[in-house]
Amino acid sequence: MDNCIDSNNMSTLIIVKHPLIQHKLTLMRRTDTATGDFRRLLREISTLLAYEITRDLPLTTVRIQTPLMVMDAPALAGKKLCFVSILRAGNGLLDGMLDLLPSARVGHVGLYRDPETLDAVEYYYKVPQDLAERLTIVVDPMLATGNSAIAAVQRLKQGGAQQMKYLCLLAAPEGVQAFSTAHPDVPITTAALDERLNEHGYILPGLGDAGDRLYGTK
Ligand code: URA
Repeated sequence: MDNCIDSNNMSTLIIVKHPLIQHKLTLMRRTDTATGDFRRLLREISTLLAYEITRDLPLTTVRIQTPLMVMDAPALAGKKLCFVSILRAGNGLLDGMLDLLPSARVGHVGLYRDPETLDAVEYYYKVPQDLAERLTIVVDPMLATGNSAIAAVQRLKQGGAQQMKYLCLLAAPEGVQAFSTAHPDVPITTAALDERLNEHGYILPGLGDAGDRLYGTK
């Protein structure tokens, strides 16, 4: 199954349809999947998604010595990446991505929604200083309303980030629409585009509250 790419004058949306990812995602969706298994599956999928989202990283050539001869071999060019986790569920994607790219820098953005104004309020922000020189991959498992994703990317742009991608596990059409309108320059990579949001802003069919399932808090 090929990945599905849709970029109709909105953010490019890449749905990674690799069978391993789809199978593991089905296990994660099941209500009877235990916390430890959920966490392990998210880590495994995030490694696979990291592989996919980095497929266009620029390469350079370095001269090396093999046991037999000298060769000009491909190597990643430029500065290391930066992964930015939107707290708290975003942290569930970090370890699997760092397994593949152990030198990446990591930032964290914490936002909550003011219950009266519904504005995203920042309570934590810590990112590498040289964000402008790095491809910044913002991670959060669920792109639901898109409000926190939009606010986090906006904050990172203010903080100097110039080249960004957004990585999630599941996306709702409403979230993709809102995010694309706000940040058409930031492509979205996801494992699935689900049907819709319910009246509480949860993705249907979804997998429930990713943070609670990840950390066993409900
Ligand atoms: N956040 C979640 O954890 N789950 C959803 O379905 C929507 C937002």
